[in-house]
Amino acid sequence: MTAKIIDGNQLSKQVRTEVAKRAAALTAQGRQPGLAVILVGDSQASQVYVRNKIKACEENGIHSVFEKYDASMTEAELLARVHALNHDPKIHGILVQLPLPAHIDSHKVIEAIAAEKDVDGFHISNAGLLMTGQPLFRPCTPYGVMKMLESIDYPVRGAHAVVVGASNIVGKPQAMLLLQAGATVTICNSKTRDLGHHTRDADILVVATGKRNIVTGDMIKPGAVVIDVGMNRDDAGKLCGDVDYAGACEVAGWVTPVPGGVGPMTITMLLVNTLEAAERN
Ligand code: GUN
Repeated sequence: MTAKIIDGNQLSKQVRTEVAKRAAALTAQGRQPGLAVILVGDSQASQVYVRNKIKACEENGIHSVFEKYDASMTEAELLARVHALNHDPKIHGILVQLPLPAHIDSHKVIEAIAAEKDVDGFHISNAGLLMTGQPLFRPCTPYGVMKMLESIDYPVRGAHAVVVGASNIVGKPQAMLLLQAGATVTICNSKTRDLGHHTRDADILVVATGKRNIVTGDMIKPGAVVIDVGMNRDDAGKLCGDVDYAGACEVAGWVTPVPGGVGPMTITMLLVNTLEAAERN
């Protein structure tokens, strides 16, 4: 079998066109959606992610503010910036790029963001709303994955979904969204014994571990949908995911490439969340 590709760039383009239209309608009423992005420190990867988020805002009619601070910024200084943005009427979404430097308590910073501006969906009250089936903001990466499944009309209800990775950013909210869509969900983590035993039974396999080649072709059920959230570099320095792409293509029914898969969808769903925050305002 040669897997079909779920093209994150193409799907993003469709969703962003719709976002831009709705953003323009708000702007015409003097209510342009606005996103503030805060980056603390010099991580090269974070700088690339943040630059792409700002660029996507600019291209789709969303006002953006980028605040970059030195790694020596104190927790109190960062909390003061978050409080100021909570009260800024031009800002509907606040994103503090993670990870933060070790001397800053990221939980404390996330809890300081007004829940109605928490477009990442990481605030404890948004995590609770998601858990109880009343989400205000769905975390962007898992939300993008659900959009990808929707784009191929995948019958999630009754399917067995296996999520590899249990982070607060991807794995846990992904499992919740799949569960609420009617899937039977297995969550695997770095300590799971015989990972392949679980992944081979997955109709939907979402891999978000940050470990290159953690899933190989022999660990995939023939015809499965394989969604690769990983973002790694191979030995030649080329971007790659967590799944052995060539191996997956031989077995799976559908696969997402890296780059050009989940990555652009994450940014697209951030735009959607910011737009919806502004529409609710
Ligand atoms: N770091 C890696 N992914 C994310 C994300 O989706 N949001 C934030 N704020 N930081 C991240």
